[in-house]
Amino acid sequence: MRTSADIPADIAARARQLREQIDYHNYRYYVLDDPEIPDAAYDRLFRELQALEEQYPALVTADSPTQRVGAKPLKAFGEVRHEVPMLSLSNAFSDEEALEFGRRCAERLAIPVEQIEFTTEPKLDGLAISLLYEDGRLARGATRGDGYVGEDVTQNVRTIRSIPLRLRGEPGKDLPRVLEVRGEVYMPKAGFEALNERQRAAGEKPFANPRNAAAGSLRQLDPQVTASRPLAMYAYGVGQVEAGELPDRHSAILARLRQWGLPVSPEVRDGVRGIEACLAYHRAMKDKRPQLPYEIDGVVYKVDRLDQQEKLGFVSRAPRWAIAHKFPAQEALTRLLAIDIQVGRTGAITPVARLEPVEVGGVTVSSATLHNEDEIRRLDLRVGDTVIVYRAGDVIPKVAGVVLSRRPPEAKPFEMPKKCPVCGSDIVRLEGHAIARCSGGLYCPAQRKEAIKHFASRRAMDIEGLGEKLVEQLVDRDLVHDPADLYALTVEQLAGLERMAQKSAENLIAALEKSKSTTLPRFLFALGIREVGETTASILAEHFGDLKAIEAADVETLQAVPDVGPVVANSIYTFFRQPHNLEVIDKLLAAGIRWPKVAVKKPEALPLAGKVIVLTGTLQGMSRSEAKQRLQALGAKVTGSVSKKTDWVIAGTDPGSKLTKAQELGVEVLDEAGLMELLQQG
Ligand code: IVH
Repeated sequence: MRTSADIPADIAARARQLREQIDYHNYRYYVLDDPEIPDAAYDRLFRELQALEEQYPALVTADSPTQRVGAKPLKAFGEVRHEVPMLSLSNAFSDEEALEFGRRCAERLAIPVEQIEFTTEPKLDGLAISLLYEDGRLARGATRGDGYVGEDVTQNVRTIRSIPLRLRGEPGKDLPRVLEVRGEVYMPKAGFEALNERQRAAGEKPFANPRNAAAGSLRQLDPQVTASRPLAMYAYGVGQVEAGELPDRHSAILARLRQWGLPVSPEVRDGVRGIEACLAYHRAMKDKRPQLPYEIDGVVYKVDRLDQQEKLGFVSRAPRWAIAHKFPAQEALTRLLAIDIQVGRTGAITPVARLEPVEVGGVTVSSATLHNEDEIRRLDLRVGDTVIVYRAGDVIPKVAGVVLSRRPPEAKPFEMPKKCPVCGSDIVRLEGHAIARCSGGLYCPAQRKEAIKHFASRRAMDIEGLGEKLVEQLVDRDLVHDPADLYALTVEQLAGLERMAQKSAENLIAALEKSKSTTLPRFLFALGIREVGETTASILAEHFGDLKAIEAADVETLQAVPDVGPVVANSIYTFFRQPHNLEVIDKLLAAGIRWPKVAVKKPEALPLAGKVIVLTGTLQGMSRSEAKQRLQALGAKVTGSVSKKTDWVIAGTDPGSKLTKAQELGVEVLDEAGLMELLQQG
């Protein structure tokens, strides 16, 4: 083993320099939210340091940015006694209660409330953390526990990238020798959704909400597990401080924390005078809540001046100088009345929870998707159960869990029906598949309705005026069995339907006539072949040039098309082998559907032929699916996960773990400007 004496001075100096640079770029990225260099350049610095440390293990220091993971799993967490207790906040659930808080402060300080300055902050929905820095180095991380004694989660905290391992500044000079930072560890919404997808795919129980996911991830005995979870942290205060002066205002302390390299929420406002202004902040944050990348369950008002805080003091376990003004809850308890079965266009069976209506976050919820049979089993959901309903921002409501203690004794486990509730055909679930399907095909009215709705939809045949209710009537009254029957409808038949006047019937006939002139990609998409979305439809059209060639293609020929894998190829092949599908197509063509000739594009001639691209994060100029479509149209293969074969990762804002993966593998990362450059090659 080499010792530090063996390390050449220039190597040691380079390692120090690399660490400083990496720390600096972490600060730009996590604290200022303003990275200075592209991710790929950051990654080069990181890998250079890793290589040096590998060559000279004696170079490794505990606070090296390379040392975030690696600790061994623990048997149990140690105990940590908080020198300064970690208190909680009193809550206000209405404007009136917040005003009351202001009046109490004003009375005790003997000044009008309008003269009190507050700092207003988001109330992050995660779990409290205490971070102890000694001589600027992260020495210990602890949970709140009961406020007096918490758990030592140092190894786990070290894996959270937004938590600096070393503070900026000189201990004893501009940095206290001992500084305990308090903050909230949370899981961003996108990371939470992705984690739950992974949990489901692995057959494990999804987390009920981002708070539980954050807590469950931080309290892992194996730091490697924590490292794989998308956790982040915002600081909101300090605890113990030794040998160092802090400013005399809370807002200035937060500013100081930022300078030292700790992330503080950019939503924090200072100099907010009086409670009315605090209430305005509450309203603004409530509106902003769905757009925030993380969950908040309210806002916090804190008297800014520390001398005033001191005067106000504490009641039992909460300060009198602060209050959490909560938003309406995102979670509620209600009863599961029934589990209904919905049949989708492709026969997919989705169980849906029918709930006793309940208000969640200001919206009445009476149903929630249950994904599939396995999800019901994982949650052990039974009709009659009291369930936790969770709704975050604009996300569809979910059943997050069951209150087992309130389960009625007669409640029975859910059994997936064997027959389709709509057409009575067998429900089949192939081995290894999560989704069960009705085997009735277009015989099943539910599938027929969905197939016709899809056929008529804007991005398919774009038949204006053929809405959902109308399709249901047409199928229920046996006027339409398949999409081709639409073109045989008459004004008289239509005018006889509910909510149809002569004029609207005439308009619909005109819209049907107009829809006959279409494009091959639209027509292909409209057929509703499983796995064939708009993009694949376009690619197929451009590759084969006409419908007959696609119909005739065997699985191998189909797989030679860019972006068509075995599953898609099989689905297309099978579709065109069903006599009733061919009949419908013949009827449609006989009705006069036509499209302009398509020029066949040779895939190898496309500018991005052979390139493998992964998209992550939010793009400003276009949706991810549009970007995907445009890249594919230029011949690129757009995949969902980063590997050594990936040529570029395109990262928008709030990129996920794909970016980290790209950095690890040394894959080139492009920003949105880089994407635009690629697209201009077309
Ligand atoms: S200050 C003495 N500020 O809410 C005051 N807490 O019930 C200590 N929280 O355990 C807390 N965001 O985990 C404060 N901006 C914020 C916060 C915040 C979330 C959590 C914290 C604490 C709980 C208080």
